[in-house]
Amino acid sequence: MVRINLNYKPLDEALFARYASNYLPPDLLDEQFELKTDSGWIVTNDSKTIGFIWGRDALRDDKKTRYVLRLEVNKAYRNLGIGSELLKKYEADSTDSDRKQLVFSVIENEESHDAALKVAKRNGWGKPEIGAYCYRTTIEKFFESVPWAEKHREYRYQQYLFPWKELTSAERNQLKDEEGPDSWRDEPDPASPLVFGRDFEPNTSLGVRIDGEIVGWMINGLYGADTVLYGSYFVRRPYRNAGMAISLLLEALKRQREAEIPNCIWFAQKSNPEAKRLYDKILAPCILSRNRVYSVKKVLHDS
Ligand SMILES: CC(C)(COP(=O)(O)OP(=O)(O)OC[C@H]1O[C@@H](n2cnc3c(N)ncnc32)[C@H](O)[C@@H]1OP(=O)(O)O)[C@@H](O)C(=O)NCCC(=O)NCCS
Repeated sequence: MVRINLNYKPLDEALFARYASNYLPPDLLDEQFELKTDSGWIVTNDSKTIGFIWGRDALRDDKKTRYVLRLEVNKAYRNLGIGSELLKKYEADSTDSDRKQLVFSVIENEESHDAALKVAKRNGWGKPEIGAYCYRTTIEKFFESVPWAEKHREYRYQQYLFPWKELTSAERNQLKDEEGPDSWRDEPDPASPLVFGRDFEPNTSLGVRIDGEIVGWMINGLYGADTVLYGSYFVRRPYRNAGMAISLLLEALKRQREAEIPNCIWFAQKSNPEAKRLYDKILAPCILSRNRVYSVKKVLHDS
């Protein structure tokens, strides 16, 4: 029987800045916690951290939303109501008048999705819905099982590809502000080139520049230290169906192999069936897992 002397503390900026490395698990790296947008709670038993909740503020459909990015309780302390208490405390902090909703997503089979969904249900959250699909493979598996990958040493658009870190500030500003029919914003599920800010994965994130115009990109992040999260993938309409997307993907995977990052992860939103179809097709020979991502929501203010 574990001795229990629980102490819940908000993960505010000062606490985080001073004690982050003592309190948080090693996989929650310092740079993953953004002081400007993130918040959470930790729970200690005597001086040892035994659980935490960590979330981030962002806009979703123009609504100020708080995402729960991680809720975790050490194995020895589970099923004692601690996860539920962390979520309750975090919710109580989230009731600013302009914050509209809380969203929590869990990956089937990879996380304790049943337990997490039960915790949310007990706290009055909405019904779980499938929000996305999560695909995983490894670089080794990809190059071993996708027969055309090695053959196409020279891809059609290779000369136009450039590392995203070389994007100029003028180009960045233009992308940020662009609107209209050919804009990346004019899509059912916009693939924002700003999705990772400046924290994109530098080896594998690429742009396509033709005659001075940025016409496509594949911008990736890190998902833990050893996994590239294949993120924003976009080709302007006049350039579609001509092999540009595949060139971007292959070049990014090749660079991932050179950078010796072993794993790959993709998320296809349910609201974007085209992306799901593309991943089902391209990744079919090499996929190691494909899991549903459940999303639960708590509406804080309707108006
Ligand atoms: C999810 C997690 C934080 C829950 O923490 P906890 O302190 O055990 O939560 P609580 O004690 O408040 O509630 C656990 C609930 O899950 C239920 N549960 C536990 N294991 C379960 C399982 N395998 N299947 C279904 N339900 C389960 C418990 O019965 C309880 O529900 P109840 O109160 O209605 O009976 C914990 O399981 C965990 O850290 N998992 C690993 C990290 C993770 O996957 N987090 C979710 C994604 S970020």
